Amino acid sequence: MVSFKIDGRSVEAKEGTYLLEVALDAGIEIPHLCYNESVKPYGACRLCLVEVSRKGKSRMTTSCNYPVMEGIEVLTQTDKVLRARRMIMELLLSMCPGDKLLQEMAEEMGVREVRFKKEDKDCILCGLCARVCDEIVGAHAIQFAFRGDRREMVPPFGGEAMNCIACGACVVVCPVNVIGMKEEGDERTILRWKRTLKMKPCKVCGNYFAPWFQLEKFKEKAKLPKDFFDVCFTCRS
Ligand code: SF4
Ligand code: FES
Repeated sequence: MVSFKIDGRSVEAKEGTYLLEVALDAGIEIPHLCYNESVKPYGACRLCLVEVSRKGKSRMTTSCNYPVMEGIEVLTQTDKVLRARRMIMELLLSMCPGDKLLQEMAEEMGVREVRFKKEDKDCILCGLCARVCDEIVGAHAIQFAFRGDRREMVPPFGGEAMNCIACGACVVVCPVNVIGMKEEGDERTILRWKRTLKMKPCKVCGNYFAPWFQLEKFKEKAKLPKDFFDVCFTCRS
């Protein structure tokens, strides 16, 4: 364990834990968009900036990927930090001006105008969908393509995401809710990745409960009885 201070408050945490996680656990609010405790931090949105002093030197850093250390002093609400976060929010809003979550966060942060050229994108390029798909699901169905202004999250080679198992994890984790999933009859579609898969009916209740392709992938990975994936979660429990 290491001891350090956040906004003058003494806190303790396991060495190496990321600062944002510790702050949120301690009830200290720091805005964030690309952080999710289930996957590795990526530092994409830069909203979680704080000031950290260590050995007499102070610097601004993203807190979601900063491992805590003994004796550091962290300030989360200085003028410098708030100004920088507002600027980042302006940049995010200029990229995705129509996004409701960004608009609400900007309002709370006191961003009154956007001085940058507005684009009409909807994805904030946080990378959470791909990190969840890679690190948790293991499907590797989407990835970043291109650089600079043209950067986007897409399936490899564009078109339909052929590795996507339509589990919906990316849909749940996307902070600005722009992926989308639709179920109609025996089909499930992940809208953004243009992936439509046939679903399997439960042997007990007859309801379609998961895509065949997804269950086949799970079968390959899990050491479970062969008929385990014949029955839906509700009927199994
Ligand atoms: S689609 Fe959503 S989760 Fe994926 S990079 Fe864009 S904003 Fe992030
Ligand atoms: S939450 Fe830290 S950079 Fe996005």
